[in-house]
Amino acid sequence: MMIPDIANPFFPGVVRGAEDVAFANGYRLVLCNSDNDHAKEVLYLNALRTYLPAGLIMIPSSFDDLSAHTQSYRSAGSAVVCIDRVPRNWEGSSVIVDNVDGVYRATSYLIGLGHRHLAAITGPLHLTSAQDRLKGFKLALRHGGLKTTGNYMQQTTFDTAGGYAKTKEILHLLPRPTAIMACNDMIAFGALLAIREENLRCPEDISLIGFDGLDLTEITTPKLSSVYQSTYEIGATAVQLAIDGALDRNCQPRQVVLKTVLKIRESVAPPRAEHVARTSRKRTR
Ligand code: RIB
Repeated sequence: MMIPDIANPFFPGVVRGAEDVAFANGYRLVLCNSDNDHAKEVLYLNALRTYLPAGLIMIPSSFDDLSAHTQSYRSAGSAVVCIDRVPRNWEGSSVIVDNVDGVYRATSYLIGLGHRHLAAITGPLHLTSAQDRLKGFKLALRHGGLKTTGNYMQQTTFDTAGGYAKTKEILHLLPRPTAIMACNDMIAFGALLAIREENLRCPEDISLIGFDGLDLTEITTPKLSSVYQSTYEIGATAVQLAIDGALDRNCQPRQVVLKTVLKIRESVAPPRAEHVARTSRKRTR
């Protein structure tokens, strides 16, 4: 199994589900961490192939030559399942969540609270998961009659440092956004740090929603609202698809799309009245 960032608690959650199903079915799971480094990923793929694994579960760091590498596994009889971020032209089995719908519902919730100046921070836009989360944000703004303004939508690395840096920038936009959609929880944790450093309060000054629903969202201050995706179910489903493919080479590939759950906690609130008054005055001039 290949994961891109073992320091992001999301991925060990996926591995937990994968390893449980593999072990229960008599398989042993070998885990590789690519560190989002494509060269390291290729090194691992070339080494793992020599073990002739029953299956390969891929969370790719990039889509460069992914099909070529995975084709060599299929030719050797291994079942290949791509999860979490999947190339648009992928024809094999896959497991993702409905990223567009998840961010669409979270952003619509913020608009329903009265937010009119929203920002989004997503991950690297070469990844389909990051693209689809931003797509959900834009769709919600459009359906809410709001403009999508370029610098209120930022991309960065799916980690705390990236979230911190981009939030620092966003907080100096005028008008300052009253809500941020962080497209994973690690970005949201960085945003919380930046908000605090700017002597602002969440949610009083800035509402914040993350994506993943990590356990850590229950212990942050404030507790983070987040779009929950079941890491265990993603991993368990992926391994089951691989086992099905390993046992029956004529088994048809399946593309599984799991739903997310919007978990509202303490990090969201309606925008402050004076902020709404100030920005509507600007609009009427
Ligand atoms: O790769 C980083 C992110 O993508 C994770 O936090 C999770 O959201 C996954 O879908």
